[in-house]
Amino acid sequence: MKKYTHINDIDDIHSWIEEAKELKKNPLKDLQLGKNKILGLFFFNSSLRTRLSTQKAAFNLGMNPIVMNVSGDAWGIEFGDGTIMNGTTAEHIKEAAAVVSQYCDIIAVRAFPTLTDKEKDESEQVLESFVKFASVPIISMESATSHPLQGFTDALTISEFSTKKKPKVVLSWAPHIKALPHAVGNSFVEAMQKMEVEFVIANPEGYDLNPEITKDTRIFHNQEEAFKDADFVYAKNWSSYEDYGKVLKTHSDWMITKNKIGTAKFMHCLPVRRNVVVEDAVLDSDSSIAIAQANNRTFAAQLVLKKILKQWV
Ligand code: CP
Repeated sequence: MKKYTHINDIDDIHSWIEEAKELKKNPLKDLQLGKNKILGLFFFNSSLRTRLSTQKAAFNLGMNPIVMNVSGDAWGIEFGDGTIMNGTTAEHIKEAAAVVSQYCDIIAVRAFPTLTDKEKDESEQVLESFVKFASVPIISMESATSHPLQGFTDALTISEFSTKKKPKVVLSWAPHIKALPHAVGNSFVEAMQKMEVEFVIANPEGYDLNPEITKDTRIFHNQEEAFKDADFVYAKNWSSYEDYGKVLKTHSDWMITKNKIGTAKFMHCLPVRRNVVVEDAVLDSDSSIAIAQANNRTFAAQLVLKKILKQWV
């Protein structure tokens, strides 16, 4: 595998899930595979899980990770073509990516959207510039429009916790105080479309995700109706796609409660704001599998790294 920047880079999600489960049984089995290989992790935005689980995955494969907070610690990077660089940016991505490619065997990048410029965000300027100007494989650790490591993690977690051949999975919008990206929601939709699940989305009117991604997935604007007979409820906030990046209305009545989810398992990518997105009674109960879900971030990243490393065997 040459890159992992989108859920569509997964050729067969069922075999990937089986491989991840095997890898999880013996995580140090491939300790020699990444020997003397450097993984560079470049963060334009904050992270807890991605930052630590991707490093742990690298250590499990014998790799050496290097981490950089680009926004705080590096020279300001210019992405525009032909820009007269007399402003705040000191280095062009053409040089930065070429130089970093000499230090790292694999580059992983996190770069969130502006949420003000839909066209720019959908062009994935930062991630695609790394793909274009680096000479080594690129992994997305969440880009403007997708979070493929999270999406695969979520598919793996549902497979592990499902007691049915075809469980019902609901992706539910939930309230938040800030305008958030669509990336997690998008990748979860794309992952579920590859799985043998009954999958529906619940969100208030005005919050439909990109129709090119949701395609013919059923969208409910009534949460109670969507939650009927659910086996998994995955909560996530996102800002409006149609009125791009805006918080239209708080909709606090969309908070996930124990009463609403019944016997369904609760999932969230984390971090989560308690008693805004979901009430304590859910997170503190056996219904929540969010911690096990976060643990799977390591094995999702490890499988991706393993598949990329195999090209050098
Ligand atoms: N779920 C997730 O990507 O978490 P972090 O933002 O903490 O990395």
